[in-house]
Amino acid sequence: MKNCLKAMSLLLLFLAGIVSLSLLLTFFKADLSAGRKLFEARCESCHGDDAKGVLQQAKNLKVAPARLDLTRGEVAHMSAPDLTARITEGKGRMPSHKDYWSPEQIRLVAEYLRSLQGKARKVGSHEK
Ligand code: HEC
Repeated sequence: MKNCLKAMSLLLLFLAGIVSLSLLLTFFKADLSAGRKLFEARCESCHGDDAKGVLQQAKNLKVAPARLDLTRGEVAHMSAPDLTARITEGKGRMPSHKDYWSPEQIRLVAEYLRSLQGKARKVGSHEK
C-alpha cells in the first residue's frame, strides 16, 4: 500500500512536470512567432528570410554581402546587450530601430535571430 502511494505520487509529479514543460514550450513558441513577425516586417528586406542576407540589397547599400549575413559566427557570438544595442542604435548602413520599436519588441526580434543562428551553427558544424 505504501509503495502504491509512492508510485502514485511519482506518477503525479511526472505528469505535472510534463504539463509545465509543455506550457513553457508554448510560451517560448509564441515568443518566437512574435519575433518572427517583427523580423519579417523590418529586417527581412535586407537580411533575408533566413537571415543570410539579400545579395541585391548588399549591392544597393554598397556593403560586402557577408555583412548582411546575420548567421555568421561574429554576429552569432555577439552578447545579448550588444545585439540589442546594435538593433536599437543601428550601425553604418544598418538603420536604427529605436523610433519604431519598444525595447521589448527589440528583445523579441533578437531572440528570434538567436534561434536562426542556433540552426546555422548546427548546420555549420557539419561542414569541414
Ligand atoms: C536597410 C537595410 C537593413 C535593414 C532593414 C536592417 N538591417 Fe541590419 N544591417 C544592415 C547592414 C548594411 C548591416 C552591416 C552594417 C555594417 O557592417 O556596417 C547590418 C548589420 C546588422 C547586424 C550586425 C551588426 C554587426 O555588428 O556586425 C545585426 C545584428 C543586424 N543588422 C540586425 C538587424 C535586425 C534585427 C533588423 C530588423 C530590426 C535589421 N538588421 C534591419 C542593413 C539592414
